[in-house]
Amino acid sequence: MYKELKTYRSIRKYKDKPVEREKLDDIIKSALIAPSSRNRKPWEFILVQDKKVLNAISRCKPHGASFAKDAPAAVVVLADPKKCDVWVEDCSIAAYTIQLVARSLGLGSCWIQTRLREMDGDTGSEEYLKELLGIPEGFAVECVITIGYGDEIKPEYTEEDMDFGKVHKDFY
Ligand SMILES: Cc1cc2nc3c(=O)[nH]c(=O)nc-3n(C[C@H](O)[C@H](O)[C@H](O)COP(=O)(O)O)c2cc1C
Repeated sequence: MYKELKTYRSIRKYKDKPVEREKLDDIIKSALIAPSSRNRKPWEFILVQDKKVLNAISRCKPHGASFAKDAPAAVVVLADPKKCDVWVEDCSIAAYTIQLVARSLGLGSCWIQTRLREMDGDTGSEEYLKELLGIPEGFAVECVITIGYGDEIKPEYTEEDMDFGKVHKDFY
């Protein structure tokens, strides 16, 4: 797994090629069984493939989301915070599970942070997405994961990239 993980990079350029239904099903099924605190599974997922909606998602913040318009698919990760106080952790694990499984299926993906981000001076990214996607009151949006066949090659990580100074033995 480590050998594979070193090659897993964020992919923001996608081929104009749809992702097969079975692959998307595998990705969603994997997210639904991600580990969560007290097994509360506070998450919900919106699988987006509509080009117009992907285009609108790409405008959820001024930087770091524009590539969503060229992705063939995206999963919006949201939760009902009332179901679990650590919903952010739960959703993060589910979101990364989506990324790992996508990569294992030969796909590229990238996380778009929307929680605590602004679309513009007046509107939060989360508020914008809730309106756009018809998300009911009481839910919170964590992030969007774009998915597609990658159209860029990035180098794999090496030990040069690893700051072993961050690792402490027995005590800090
Ligand atoms: C919590 C989180 C938020 C991120 N938000 C964004 C984002 O909004 N836009 C973006 O293009 N990439 C985003 N990324 C991807 C990171 O920029 C990327 O993982 C990091 O630069 C390392 O690159 P790599 O994934 O290719 O190893 C995010 C990643 C994480 C884990």
